[in-house]
Amino acid sequence: MSVSIEVRGLSRTFHTTVRRPGLAGALRSLVNPERAVKHAVSDVTFSVAAGELLALLGPNGAGKSTTIKMLTGILTPTSGEARVAGVVPYRERERNARNIGAVFGQRTQLWWDLPVRESFAILRDIYEVPKAEHTARLKEFDDILDLSAFWDTRVRHLSLGQRVRCDLAAALLHDPPVVFLDEPTIGMDVVVKEQVREFLRHQVEERGRTVLLTTHDMTEVERLAERVVLINHGRLVLDGTLDEIRRKFGSTWQVRATLADAHTEVAALPGIAVLRQDGPQVVFGPDGPDAPTVHQALKQVIERYEVSGVAIDEADLEDVMRTAYVQAGAV
Ligand SMILES: Nc1ncnc2c1ncn2[C@@H]1O[C@H](COP(=O)(O)OP(=O)(O)OP(=O)(O)O)[C@@H](O)[C@H]1O
Ligand SMILES: [Mg+2]
Repeated sequence: MSVSIEVRGLSRTFHTTVRRPGLAGALRSLVNPERAVKHAVSDVTFSVAAGELLALLGPNGAGKSTTIKMLTGILTPTSGEARVAGVVPYRERERNARNIGAVFGQRTQLWWDLPVRESFAILRDIYEVPKAEHTARLKEFDDILDLSAFWDTRVRHLSLGQRVRCDLAAALLHDPPVVFLDEPTIGMDVVVKEQVREFLRHQVEERGRTVLLTTHDMTEVERLAERVVLINHGRLVLDGTLDEIRRKFGSTWQVRATLADAHTEVAALPGIAVLRQDGPQVVFGPDGPDAPTVHQALKQVIERYEVSGVAIDEADLEDVMRTAYVQAGAV
């Protein structure tokens, strides 16, 4: 599979002036400013395959937005390098802009005083999208995101959730292969969140877009991402599939099965132990470090035994990631 986003040893340092407290402090700062260095991103290396959705996770201040700003060409790295669809973003900003769409949930890319529809028309002209294509794409977005109810409203009058939906559509109007989403579902209600997730899934699965997403919402990660990269204090501390992370940090799960025939002899399966058996009720659990994920275990159990009912229990991703954060020293 081809690589779409490639990040090698990427670092970004900020130099700031420390303000001393009080009037005397302010005067001293003026005469003799004290400088501080902030390593927002340090030596980060990862890649994203074409058509993959990767979640970039980490606590507040970890360096996620700074990383995305370098990949969208807004910031230049202090050292290291990055390529997005073959382009070095901070060296060829305009060329990069044609290949990417970006949404920063915290602020809009749309024109504050214009109705949404006019913003879309301006973007169509900027990116020289043929009219028929533009109309077809808007319709596709409207079908999932329900934009037409408010696209004649000025951006400044939209609610947060409406505005971010418009931003999402705006970011994809020129059909970019790569999409950066920095907290795209911030402030959305549960129904709209689900709409946006469906939209993103559609964009990845049907349109083959590559997506790099940041979020603090683990349900979102669970629904959308197969792989996550975790950063903390600017450093990459974990890169793996959700399955690998679950196996490493959340190995507790149970498969509770009801056997069709209570007299069936039940035995352990590879990596799966029989924890309890009470007549037709059998509880399976992980056995050893190579235990399968709960979903693989479920598959093995129902392939091996005839069951009339089955249920699973697993640590939710929030717990698993909390453990991962703690073990990675992130909290
Ligand atoms: N322009 C800047 N000047 C100085 N420091 C900055 C600047 N931009 C970011 N930082 C610092 O760099 C660090 C990383 O910030 P960043 O915004 O990338 O974090 P984040 O992972 O996106 O966090 P959050 O989850 O809160 O959005 C923070 O400590 C922040 O204060
Ligand atoms: Mg951020």
